[in-house]
Parts: sequence; C-alpha cells; structure tokens
Amino acid sequence: MGRSVYVTRDLPEPALPLLRAECETVDVNPHDRALTRDELLAAVPGRDGILCTGMDPMDAEVLDAAGQSLRAIAVCAVGYDNVSVPELTRRRIGASNTPDVLTETTADLAWALMMAAARRVAEGDRFVRAGCWKGWGPRQMLGFDLYGKTLGVVGAGRIGCAVARRARGFDMRVIYHNRSARKELERDIGAVHVSLGELLRRSDFVSINLPLTAETVHIIGARELALMKPTAVLVNTGRGPLVDEEALVDALRAGRIAAAGLDVFEGEPNVRPELLGLENVVLTPHVGSGTLQTRSKMAGMAARCLLSMLRGEAPAQCLNPEVFDKSVPAP
Ligand code: 8YV
Repeated sequence: MGRSVYVTRDLPEPALPLLRAECETVDVNPHDRALTRDELLAAVPGRDGILCTGMDPMDAEVLDAAGQSLRAIAVCAVGYDNVSVPELTRRRIGASNTPDVLTETTADLAWALMMAAARRVAEGDRFVRAGCWKGWGPRQMLGFDLYGKTLGVVGAGRIGCAVARRARGFDMRVIYHNRSARKELERDIGAVHVSLGELLRRSDFVSINLPLTAETVHIIGARELALMKPTAVLVNTGRGPLVDEEALVDALRAGRIAAAGLDVFEGEPNVRPELLGLENVVLTPHVGSGTLQTRSKMAGMAARCLLSMLRGEAPAQCLNPEVFDKSVPAP
C-alpha cells in the first residue's frame, strides 16, 4: 500500500477495483473527456504510477511534473506512440501496453470500414435519412464488390494478419507489405509478400495496420496514392499520421482512388473539414478496439501491468524489460 496512481480516463471494469485493492490512492480523471494539458500536469506530481490511454502525451514535461516518485506508466492501448520508451528507460520508469486482446476487434472494424466504403453504407444511410430516396434505381448508389478482389495489408503485425485472415471468407487474394515475411500467413491463406509499390498498384482494398514511428509517418502520401487503382479503397485503423490527409483529400476529390474508411486522423479529435464534406469517405471516431468486452480486457491488462511494475516486477506486456533487470546497473 502507500502507492499513489493516476488514471487519465474512467476505464471500464475491472481496472479501478484492481488498482484500489493494492494502492492507497487511485485518482481518476473525473471528466468524460481527455484532460487538458494543464489538468494533466496538475494531476501527476508525486504519483508512483500512471495508467494512461494511447492518446495522452506522456512527454518529458509530464514526466518532469510527475517527479522522482514515478516508477511506471501503463498505456491502455496497443499503440504507444504517446510515450518515448527510450526516455522512460533512461529514467528507469517501466512501461507497458495492451497487445493481443484488441487484435480481432480492431480487424473487425477495418472490415466494417472496407465494406461500408465499398458499398456506400454511410452515404446510403445519410441519403435515406435526408428523405432523398425516391425509389429503387438500377444505377443508384452503385459500389464495388469485395468478393474475389485483392486485399493489400500494409503492416502484417498481429492486427494486419487478423485483417488478412478474414479475407478467406470473401475469397480474396491477399498481398502484404511488411519488414519481414510472415511464413504462417503465406502458408495458411496463400498471402504473398510484396513491396509497398506493388501492393498499392495491385490492391483493390488497402488496409493500413502499422504502428506510428518516425519511419512510418506519411507512409501513404501523394506519390503512394497515385500508384493505387482509381477503383481502390483505402482503410486506416492504425494512426492518423500514417496517411498524409491533405494528399488523401486531393486523391478522393480527383477520383484517383474511389473511397476511404478512416478510424484515425492526423489531428484527433479534430477532423479536417474537407474530409467532412466528402461523400466517398467513411469516418469513425477511433473505435478500433471499441467493444465493451475488449475495452474491459485492455483496462484489466493495463491495471495488472501497472501493479506488477509498482511491485518492482516486469509486467506481462513490458515495453522496457531492462528497467526490471536487476543485473543491469542504473545509468
Ligand atoms: C485505444 C488504440 O483505444 O490500442 C490502440 O492503439 O488505438 C485504441 O485501441 C486508444 O489508443 C486509446 O487508448
């Protein structure tokens, strides 16, 4: 006991009961919104641990504000581009994330966006609600087939592979781009490892499933979009800055690609106004992992990781095991 932790959002069960069973102080952001910068800086001083989302910037200023007591940060997300792991390691602060439990849920959303964009589901919904539908028409709101087409998966990590595996049900060819080959995926579904350029040229559907790093920022820009088919659909459930949104807007407007489905945005929660005005893009509010079952698993995993780290033990999903390795001397 005696530990003080801060939780940046009111997470689903069982996160808070788990933390309260082992920590003397568990304070939670009381608002149903992200903390402002000032609120975050005011909330962290003197904490032993922070349980944050993937959206809370845990930068040097926040770490400085927390001070010497801070031993652990558990990120309740698989993507942890909001923390600098080398910086945390340098400060001997443990870090964890929540992989695996959200893989299938996020892959489902990538497919929901592919289908919605290809079959104009959101546009059709708007059309009907607005009272514009005056009757069935043979050329009305025609979309694109998924069945039998080619799916290109950019980033064949856990989520990318789960997106790829679902393509079997649609009898699709799968090509993928990844730093290393995924032999299991090749064996199981006949996926073929190709360069990014080839993937973009050949795919009817492109799903972006990469982590955001210095190397992957704007991995899809004007040059890449120009390689795609005019009938292709681009879906991003990774992180907004993987795609150059300005270039995407231009491509969608000019019909250089047919449609897009976006769950993540460059300036979240602000969405570029040009995107809001386009009919051929489906927009969802960063809900890739958004089912109660999955969010509960993530919350429980993050809380358990934080507690392990506060006990001085490496958590199950550790991002910097060297912090807990007693044989590594402190710098
Ligand atoms: C999170 C996500 O819900 O896991 C991720 O990387 O993007 C989402 O599942 C979001 O980051 C808030 O933590």
